[in-house]
Amino acid sequence: MKPAPGLSRHFLQIKDLRAEEYGYLFERTRIIKSRFKNYERYQPLVDRTLAMIFEKASTRTRVSFEAGMYQMGGSVVHLTTGDTHLGRAEPVEDTARVISRMVDLVMIRTYEQAKIERFAAHSRVPVINGLTNEYHPCQILADIFTFIEHRGSIQGKTVAWVGDGNNMANTWLQAAEVMGFTVHISTPGGYEVDPAVAGIADRSCYRVFDHPMQACEGAHLVTTDVWTSMGYEAQNEERRKAFVDWCVDDEMMAVAQRDALFMHCLPAHRGEEVTAEVLDGPQSVVWDEAENRMHVQKALMEYLLLGRIG
Ligand code: CP
Ligand code: NVA
Repeated sequence: MKPAPGLSRHFLQIKDLRAEEYGYLFERTRIIKSRFKNYERYQPLVDRTLAMIFEKASTRTRVSFEAGMYQMGGSVVHLTTGDTHLGRAEPVEDTARVISRMVDLVMIRTYEQAKIERFAAHSRVPVINGLTNEYHPCQILADIFTFIEHRGSIQGKTVAWVGDGNNMANTWLQAAEVMGFTVHISTPGGYEVDPAVAGIADRSCYRVFDHPMQACEGAHLVTTDVWTSMGYEAQNEERRKAFVDWCVDDEMMAVAQRDALFMHCLPAHRGEEVTAEVLDGPQSVVWDEAENRMHVQKALMEYLLLGRIG
């Protein structure tokens, strides 16, 4: 029996869960990952179905959700705008009503955050944000779990953000507010974060720097993202000019903590937002980040569908 509309918990942005729930999720992720590495079968989601709706391209999000759901015993329906009526103007509310009567969980990658919120408001089942123009919460879950694996708690630490004030930057700010760390952010003029869009109440969780070197000074983690996110391709040329000094290189890593990590959600463009030396260098944990998408999302799906285990 599916729950009545409105009773599901959704994961549309970081502040949908509390700090204490993230502590639980990261511990579950550790256990679930360890079982996977030991080839132990763990299938709590037998007979459960995840619908994935993609209105933008994806490699990591698709594979991590799909492989993760199969590993937990469930199944997946993969939909795109081109092969559904979403691309033919069926209202998102109607799509939500229909799909959520047939599946147990929905993951959506789309453009405006307002669209996924409209979907969730009419869904009988939990909805997960697989990236919108405003947020990418599953990626930040993976990034923070990766930080914890390598360096322990992120509480009280400094994360340097170099580049666009985009969905990843907004999500780092929300995570800083919820989990108690600080973001040092440097963007080119005109590409700043907007705290209202980022959805943060406490401006003390971040500091803005004109120069990316200043943002990296003393940071425990340096991170960046593409200069042009999906949906903004028409601005590509003007962005290439504006962002030329916002390339994470060895000099920026040298002013961070000696054991600072480098992260990038991927896909990366070597020679644009990051040099090949940094991306492929010893401080980079980008492949762990990508793998951890699957493990954190398995813990998230388990939590949204089954609640706390044990
Ligand atoms: N990082 C990330 O979300 O990658 P994809 O766009 O490949 O899903
Ligand atoms: N900011 C990027 C992230 C891709 C995973 C985008 O939205 O295209």
